[in-house]
Amino acid sequence: MKKLAAGNWKMNGTQSSLAEVTALLAAHPAPTCEMLLCPPATLLTAMAGLAKGSALQIGGQDCHPKGSGAHTGDISAAMLADAGAAYVILGHSERRSDHGETDALVRAKAEAALAAGLVAVVCIGETEGQRDAGQTLDVIGTQVDGSIPLTGTAATLVLAYEPVWAIGTGRTPTLAEIAEVHAFLRARLRALIGAEADGVRILYGGSVKPSNAVEIFAVPHVDGALVGGASLKAADFGAIVAALAAA
Ligand code: PGA
Repeated sequence: MKKLAAGNWKMNGTQSSLAEVTALLAAHPAPTCEMLLCPPATLLTAMAGLAKGSALQIGGQDCHPKGSGAHTGDISAAMLADAGAAYVILGHSERRSDHGETDALVRAKAEAALAAGLVAVVCIGETEGQRDAGQTLDVIGTQVDGSIPLTGTAATLVLAYEPVWAIGTGRTPTLAEIAEVHAFLRARLRALIGAEADGVRILYGGSVKPSNAVEIFAVPHVDGALVGGASLKAADFGAIVAALAAA
């Protein structure tokens, strides 16, 4: 399995930010792990142009479940592919909370992504209240059962475990907590999609940075990271890529 360092720029970045991509590619032209950046839709085409022929893959941050039509402001999976994307993040906690996305909607989007030839990066994670109440495994188990496309394979599905309380806060679960969740997720994936589950990359996300990447990547069943804030700077994301490549 090729591990995956994925960056989510969220609603950040303009044309001038593309200099970070140029710097990243100059510093890490051929990492042994996979490298992915998901910029805002306005930068997809330009970033895909920069990444063409390089080790960097490009992804969207969301897509509509339908292929086309009267859906003002939305973007279809086929449009992302047309713009040069190979991946799409789906069901990020900010989409789930800001836009009320349900597991069923996330699954419909993921199925649309697969149909368009994209790899779906499906996100799940518990809130702080749910963790404190001892509900973490119940919550993420339900999210996995309801959100992943059941036709997903090692090549088309990536799962990202992102505790909501760890996103953008500088706080992370303990390594033992990450290990518990990732082992649970591998078993849950096996129950849902069989042997393919062993090749599905399970990413950890939430305040990953150069200073904690090495220890997180040493945790069993952590097959990479989904990185928000630290993916905006080539030096930080590059250090995370290097840590994953060495793991
Ligand atoms: P963060 O975001 O790295 O800024 O915590 C992670 C994410 O939301 O994917």
